[in-house]
Amino acid sequence: MSSASFPSIIVNADNPGIERTARVIANGGLVAFPTETVYGLGANARDDRAVAQIFEAKNRPRFNPLIVHVPTMEDARRLAEFDDRAEEIANAFWPGPLSIVLPRRADAGLSFLVSAGLNTIALRVPDSELARELLTVAQCPIAAPSANRSGEVSPTTAEHVAQSLPEPGDKGPSLILDGGPCSVGLESTVVDLSEPMASLLRPGGITREDLACHLGTLVVADSDDTAPRSPGMMTRHYAPATPLRINATTAEPGEALLGFGDNANDAIYNLSPDGNLTEAAANLFAMLRDLDNGTHAGIAVAPIPKHGLGQAINDRLKRAAKKE
Ligand code: TXA
Ligand code: MG
Repeated sequence: MSSASFPSIIVNADNPGIERTARVIANGGLVAFPTETVYGLGANARDDRAVAQIFEAKNRPRFNPLIVHVPTMEDARRLAEFDDRAEEIANAFWPGPLSIVLPRRADAGLSFLVSAGLNTIALRVPDSELARELLTVAQCPIAAPSANRSGEVSPTTAEHVAQSLPEPGDKGPSLILDGGPCSVGLESTVVDLSEPMASLLRPGGITREDLACHLGTLVVADSDDTAPRSPGMMTRHYAPATPLRINATTAEPGEALLGFGDNANDAIYNLSPDGNLTEAAANLFAMLRDLDNGTHAGIAVAPIPKHGLGQAINDRLKRAAKKE
């Protein structure tokens, strides 16, 4: 890694810098940008391929659903169903370090990879004026996890991002918008309002007590990947209702074959005819959902290589096949 050339992708947060950053996003690229919590690794949340690149850059071994950032409450309402609780919580804490999980609107037009196939979506209007300006200029919702490699601490300066993520030519962001140090320095609180009982999925700057003032009862769930797994306490994951069989080379009678690469002639869909793992990740949830339509006795999925994004794809397929 040539550390001498890498800082050159750090861009000043003036108007030309913001416009340049917005252009990269509009063109399906990756950027790092500041919010009041931590720096985010952002991409157009409507673009499956761009979202796949986020997972690739972070080297995440699994697909966790990501937070989608919007500049205003009106934008948020176009993406998710807000009930009275959600309206109240959003009015109380947005813009700010709170992400709200809500039912996705059918016409949201968001990538399915962004919510890892779920029918819910985590939304946030950040308090950072710079972040909101970028969101306004970009004219699209921006999906952004923290801009660090998986397993490393979240970055609160542009330099931290540069140290943690790969270079642009090596799957890293095309540029890092430098807004100085983050004021909160801790990820947003995540509250799930997609079900009748509100639950706190991740503690953060907005406290449980702050939320309880508005919500009354609040279940504290544990969605942390590294925490011990207790059933019902983790982030829910999408799994098809149709039985799924992995490492399949041909379909059995009644099964639909989901192919990969060039040896999948009888496949209904092919995750990537060229054997490209970024393309496969981008297609995974949309194709699974289409095949999971009740007309097939089973879904057979072709073998997927285990390197790079193949890890996360195999992780999800394995768990879906086990009917976790
Ligand atoms: O402060 C933050 O939230 C930063 C900045 C960049 O905004 N972003 C961030 O994103 O920390 P990320 O992807 O690292 O964390 C997303 C969290 C995870 O705990 C994930 O499980 C949860 O939000 N989440 C996202 N969508 C969800 C959904 N549909 N259902 C349940 N949990 C969800
Ligand atoms: Mg993180």
